[in-house]
Parts: sequence; C-alpha cells; structure tokens
Amino acid sequence: MINHDRLLTKFGVSMKFGDKYIPLEKFNKMREESLKNPEKFWGEQAKCLDWDKTWDKVLEWNPPYARWFVNGKLNASYNCVDRHIKGSRRNKAAIIWENENGDCRTLTYYELYREVNKFANVLQNLGVDKGDRVAIYLPMIPEAVIAMLACARIGAIHTVVFSGFSSDALAERINDAGAEVLITADILYRRGKKINLKNIVDKSLLDCPSINYVVYVHRDKDNDIKLKEGRDYLWDELMKGAKKYVKPVSVESNHPLFILYTSGTTGKPKGVVHSTGGYLVYVTKTMEWTWGINDMDVFWCTADIGWITGHSYVVYAPLSLGTTTVIYEGAIDYPNPGRIWEIIENHGVTILYTAPTAIRMLMKYGEEWVKSHDLSTLRMLGSVGEPINPKAWEWYYEVVGQKRCPIADCYWQTETGGHIIYPPLGIQNIPLKPGSATFPGIGIDADVVDENGNSLPPNKKGLLVIKNPWPGMLLGLWKNDVRYRKAYWERIKNCYCPSDYAIKDEDGYFWILGRADEVLNVAGHRIGTAELEHVLVSHPLVAEAAVIGKPDEIKGEVPVAFVIPRKEIDDKKEAKEQIIKYVRDTLGPVAAPTMIFFVNKLPKTRSGKIMRRVLKKLILGEDLGDLSTIEDNTSIEEIKNELSDFV
Ligand code: WT7
Repeated sequence: MINHDRLLTKFGVSMKFGDKYIPLEKFNKMREESLKNPEKFWGEQAKCLDWDKTWDKVLEWNPPYARWFVNGKLNASYNCVDRHIKGSRRNKAAIIWENENGDCRTLTYYELYREVNKFANVLQNLGVDKGDRVAIYLPMIPEAVIAMLACARIGAIHTVVFSGFSSDALAERINDAGAEVLITADILYRRGKKINLKNIVDKSLLDCPSINYVVYVHRDKDNDIKLKEGRDYLWDELMKGAKKYVKPVSVESNHPLFILYTSGTTGKPKGVVHSTGGYLVYVTKTMEWTWGINDMDVFWCTADIGWITGHSYVVYAPLSLGTTTVIYEGAIDYPNPGRIWEIIENHGVTILYTAPTAIRMLMKYGEEWVKSHDLSTLRMLGSVGEPINPKAWEWYYEVVGQKRCPIADCYWQTETGGHIIYPPLGIQNIPLKPGSATFPGIGIDADVVDENGNSLPPNKKGLLVIKNPWPGMLLGLWKNDVRYRKAYWERIKNCYCPSDYAIKDEDGYFWILGRADEVLNVAGHRIGTAELEHVLVSHPLVAEAAVIGKPDEIKGEVPVAFVIPRKEIDDKKEAKEQIIKYVRDTLGPVAAPTMIFFVNKLPKTRSGKIMRRVLKKLILGEDLGDLSTIEDNTSIEEIKNELSDFV
C-alpha cells in the first residue's frame, strides 16, 4: 500500500486534504455532463476546430468501433496552420527549433503554411493521393512536422517511424502500412555524432517493394548523397519547383490521419490508426484542459515525433491551438547537463512536458545545473510515459518548478490519442499527489476492476478499464481487426483495457502501477518481450530466449535476456556483445538487453510456457513463490548459478 499522507502535496488550493469532499466543482460538473450526455458535450467541444461541413451524428458506437462526428468534414493541416494565418497569429512563432550545436530556426505560422503547401504539392507530384500511405523517418527537424501536415493536407496517411529504429524495424512498418513514399534525411545529430540514416534506409529498402520514391532532406552539406536514379530525390530540389498553394482536401472525420506502430504482446508491432476529426478534437481539448493554454505560452514537449506524445503534443495539439511549440534535436543533456535548462531560458518556455526517466537523469546531475539558469518563465510542468516516483516528482516540483508550477502527470497511450487520466489544471487547481495521475479525464469513464470485470473497492489493485468511447480512441489496428478486438476488448467484457494495473484510492485518485501484460516500459518506451525474443531467436547463436524487465534507477526498467545457445559457446563475452549489437541493429538501441545470460534450460510450465515471473524473481533475488506448475526444477538451480555474480 502506498502511504498517501506522506506523499500528499497541496497545490494552490486552500483545503484540508483527506476530507471526504473534494471541492472540484467546475471539473466535476464538466465531467458529469460529458458522461451523462456525451453527444451533446462533444458536439459542443468539437467547435474548437474549423469544419468544412458539420457532422450528421456526433457518435456512432458499434462496440468496439467508435466513429465520431460522422459525415463531418475537415482538414487537419487547415486547422493547424491556415486558420491561424488569417488573424493575429500570422507572424507568431509556430515552431522554434534548436539542435545540439546551437543551430536555431524559427518558423512563423505563415512560414509553416508556405512550407506545408509546397511540400503537399511535392507529394502530389510524386503521385500521392488521398488515403495513400507515406512513411516519415526523420529526426526532430521542422521538415518532420512539415511532412506530417503536408500529408494531412492532401488526405494521405502518414506513418512516422522513430529515427532511432533500425532497418528491419523501418522495413517492417513500411511494409505493413504499404507506404509508397518515404521521407527521410541523410543524417541525424545525436551526442555530437552524425548518425548515418541513409545507410539504414538503403538496407531497409532492399526489402520494401511498395516504396516508389524517397525524398531526402540533405543536411550534411560536406557529403553528397548517392541518389538512385528515378527513385531518390532531394527535398530542396523538389521544393524549388513546387506550387505555392494546395487546396486542403476536405476529409470525412473518420478518415485516418495517421498510423503509428507500437509494441504489443506478440512479435509484430501493432499499427494504431487514428482518425482526423475525433483525434484532433481530443488532443486540442486535452491540451487546453491540462494546461490552460494562452497566446503567451511557449510549449516544449521533449518527446520525439516518432512516438504518440510527439504526434499529439509536439505537433497536432499545440498547432491546432496556435501555440508556439519547441522542437529540439539531440540529447537534452548534451553537450552538457544544463542543455535542457538553457533551452528553456533561451526561448522562454512556459510549459515543459517530459518523462520521469529524463527527470531522474537530470536529478543525478545535481541542482546546480538547474539553478544556474533562469527558469522564471515556466508556469506549468508535465510528466508522461510511466508512473513518476515521488522522489523525482518532488525534485521536479521544487527544483525545476520552484514550487510555483503544478505538475500534470498525464497517463495515456498510443491508442488513446491523448491524455485520459490527468489533472485538468487548465480548468481548476487540483490538489496533487506525487505519483498519481489524479482522476479520469473529462469524457472518460474509467474504473479499476478484477479479472472478471467487477469494480474493486478503494486501494485494491486491479486492471484499469475504460467503459465508454472517447473521441481520441483509436479507430482500430491497420488491416488487423481480429487483433484489435483481441488486444483491447476481450480481456474485460465491454470495456477498453489498456493493460495497466492500477488502484484508485479513497479520494478517487488513480495510481497506475505498471503494465499488466508482457510489455516492458524502458525509459517510457513500450517494448514487447515477444518482439525482442523474436529478434533474439533469429540470431544464429540463439536457440531460445526469454526476456524480462529488470528495475533500473534511471530507465525504470531495462530488458534482460536469458538465452539458450544453439551450440557450445567458447567466448561468452564476445557472443553477448554480438547478440546485443544484433538487437541494436535490428530493433534499435532502446530495445538492446543490458544483460544476457546463457543457460541450458528455461523454467517452463508443463504446458511449455516460459515462466518469466520466475526469471524476474530470480534476478531480483526474491522468493520464487509457488513453483508447483514448473516442469523441471533443475533449470532454476542452473540460472541461480549463472546469476550468482550479479544478484
Ligand atoms: C504506456 C503507454 C502516451 C504516453 C507515452 C507512452 C505507460 C504512460 C503514464 C503515466 C503511468 C504511464 C502505461 C501505458 N504510461 N504514461 N503518466 N503514468 N504510466 O505511450 O508507448 O503507448 O505507452 O505507458 O503503461 O500503457 P505508449
């Protein structure tokens, strides 16, 4: 049990906490209305966007498929750029970009508008049409946003692939989505190094028959890019001849805006599909409700655009609201641990949205790095990706926010589009408890239930569920209906199940306790153990593999692999390095196991299932609990021996 009294922090509200009654009138009233009459409520909220045609019906709910604002028509790029240039935001900074080298670029809304239009025409000239898929494999540069919005402008569906992923991961996503065009760059900068993306792309493309054209952003002007005749083009060259205006294609609200791949419990990533209307309404409103955005705000979400956080709160929500969004390419602690604070100071950032893993890392560098910068512009903070531990919360609140800035701990997922459990600080002050994402948001009917779907009393651990559809809910999984139903709707009847454990406390606060499936959360990234095992066993040295998450002070969790080798291994150290390199090259550095143990047997149940729970206990040096279902006890002894140096 978590000791709430000790963790409790009062923020700005003069109330005795722990009282039965929490006076959150405004929020409670809105929430109540949103649940009582969702159609009326969301119909009102949807006016935050410019629609070309009003919907016939706010919600069509054929479980498990929700369709919002049916037959309403709109264009996402129009809502993110065009509508702002008609008024006083025309010359306001839309994007402030900076990289590790200190290079800066600012694009006003008008400049962004021009770039998006031109690139939309470039895509048209490459034959991209409404509904076609375009893969974007770019670092954190303005071109990434321009490319996303240009796709949206012509009704093409983008699929952004995190630039830290390697060639196989890129190819797999391109192929699943059937992307015809790939937008990428020659290099990216990270920790003072130039990383050659072109080499990765070349390798992927050996195996991507659907790709007709590749557009390269040429960054490293010291080196030419070797282009393949008829397939490869340079961004700048194509932009030169492009038309200055492309009429935004008006799409039906449920036309897919993008596909974004995320890890699941099987070896293959899931292609989460989001809508245009429902998604854009939801991210716009949740951003407003969470932080109460105004025209003075400079918003910095440190997430990469390759993840949903980047899609929703670097690109779509800030731009839809006409906010200034900061984009930083590189590591936030490079070239020195004060880099993140320097950027806040340089650009007068008012809201910082980052992840607990980053906070823990920055905390380790010490307060001095923070204190030597002027952070007085900050007014609010945000946390996302995993539960934030109270120590990190307190440091974030006291040292970074100087006890002035409330922290919005936002719980959500790729699939939910936007925040679903979060404090709506933009509506009213909410007493915060470090480590709790507070309450289910407006329009979200969440609960904590047992495996049979029965609601649990306060402080009992169970599965988090959502009982109703909301506009940011995924449309489905790309070309995989069976998996959509299975992954989210079968575990608990009639409920959306995010596969996270949670408790709600006696005050109604929700505490997320971690994944309730075989998915790891490594520094805020979801990594399926099955996906990783699948890659491990494709290595020639590996016969069988089991992956578990080992708690880590900074990253929250790191993957550890137990491997049965195919043959006797002479040099274990070298073999481990080889396998780790292989995972880095195949899946990307985030997924690389930090330790590999060679064993002859894995603990399995009699039905042949690997008992990862036992492996986890072994590595933690904990009591193994009930082993009655284990097939062969000797596996345990062997692993214990292997681990004796580490535990
Ligand atoms: C999983 C979703 C969209 C957020 C970025 C990751 C965990 C996320 C929190 C939080 C506790 C959190 C959950 C969730 N998670 N935010 N504030 N508190 N846990 O998106 O890759 O789709 O991962 O991240 O386990 O299911 P994602």
